[in-house]
Amino acid sequence: MEKRQELYAGKAKSVFATDDSDYVVLSFRDDTSAFDGERIEQLNRKGEVNNKFNAFIMQYLSDAGIPTHFEKLLNANESLVKNMKMIPVECVVRNVASGSLVRRLGVEDGMELTPPVFEFFLKNDALHDPMVNEYHIETFGWAKAEDVTKMKALTFEVNAKLKKLFADAGMILVDYKLEFGLFKGEVILGDEFSPDGCRLWDAQTRKKLDKDRFRQGLGGVIEAYEEVAQRIGVPL
Ligand code: TYD
Repeated sequence: MEKRQELYAGKAKSVFATDDSDYVVLSFRDDTSAFDGERIEQLNRKGEVNNKFNAFIMQYLSDAGIPTHFEKLLNANESLVKNMKMIPVECVVRNVASGSLVRRLGVEDGMELTPPVFEFFLKNDALHDPMVNEYHIETFGWAKAEDVTKMKALTFEVNAKLKKLFADAGMILVDYKLEFGLFKGEVILGDEFSPDGCRLWDAQTRKKLDKDRFRQGLGGVIEAYEEVAQRIGVPL
C-alpha cells in the first residue's frame, strides 16, 4: 500500500489517498479544536494517543460484530481505513446529562438518563452543528431512511459495548458522538472514537478525563487521555 496525495484536512485529522481507491490513510494531528473550530491549539502527543486509542476501540467494536472503517495501524499517527462516503450527520448518545443538553434544557449536570437520550446533529461548523431529526435527514437527502435506522441501531449497540468496557475500568461513559459512512452501499462506523468525541468521568471522583478538560481550560488534557488509554489497556 502506497500513500498518495492529501485529499482532505479536517480540524484534527487529514485524509490521504492510497494506490487502492477502496482505502485511505487517516492521519491524526496534534491540533485540538473546540467551539466549532474557533479555538485550535497544538497538544503534544495528542495525534498519537488518539490514533492508538481509536485503533483499539474500532478493533474492539469490529470484534464485537460492529462494522467499522478500521483496517490497521500504520504508524504512531496513521491508520489505514476504508474509503467511505461520509454521512454528514453526527449520532450522539447520552447516558448522563452534560454539555449542550444541560444548556438547552436546563436539566441538572450529572443526572443519569434512563433510557439514554439519542440525538442527531448536522455536521456544519458555520451553522454550529444544529440538532436535526430523522425527517430533516431524509427530506434534505443527507441519508436514506433505512440508513438512518441502521446508524441509530449501531450507535446503541456501541453504547452497550463501550459503557461496559469503560465501567469495568472504573469510568462512566457520559456521552459520545459517532459518525457513519457508506462503503459499497453498507453503513459502517467511521471517523474516530477517542476522548475528543466523548465524555468520560472517573466513576468514584467524577473527574473529567476527556476533551472537556480542554474546553474548560482544566489542563492535563493529554495526561487524562493517556490515563483512560492505560486503564482500558490501549498499548501506547
Ligand atoms: P454536546 O453536549 O452536544 O456538545 P458540547 O460538546 O458542545 O457540549 O456533545 C455530546 C457529546 O458528543 C460530547 O461528548 C461531545 C461530542 N460531540 C462532538 O465530539 N462533536 C460535535 O460536533 C458534537 C455536537 C458532539
